Amino acid sequence: MKKIKVEVCSGTQCVMMGAMDIVASIQSLSSLKQQLRLDRKIDIVTSKCFGLCKEGKCGPFVRVDGELIENADSESVMSHIISIVNKKGE
Ligand code: FES
Repeated sequence: MKKIKVEVCSGTQCVMMGAMDIVASIQSLSSLKQQLRLDRKIDIVTSKCFGLCKEGKCGPFVRVDGELIENADSESVMSHIISIVNKKGE
């Protein structure tokens, strides 16, 4: 079963804007995954600065299966995960 890849920018600006809170909440998704009946694995990785903060965009930045979320928070990341699961009919 294909994993959902969640990539969180862990550059200084994104961390200051709450990126690590997003990582913590996604990592503690087990009960939410059960509620949502998500049985796909979520692979969460942190990565160095995406470079978008230098373009004046507002972080934190997260990519969910390659789809960029600006000004991300736990809710918007979960919403993207759910929409990906629903799009693929799983
Ligand atoms: S610190 Fe996140 S894009 Fe630069």
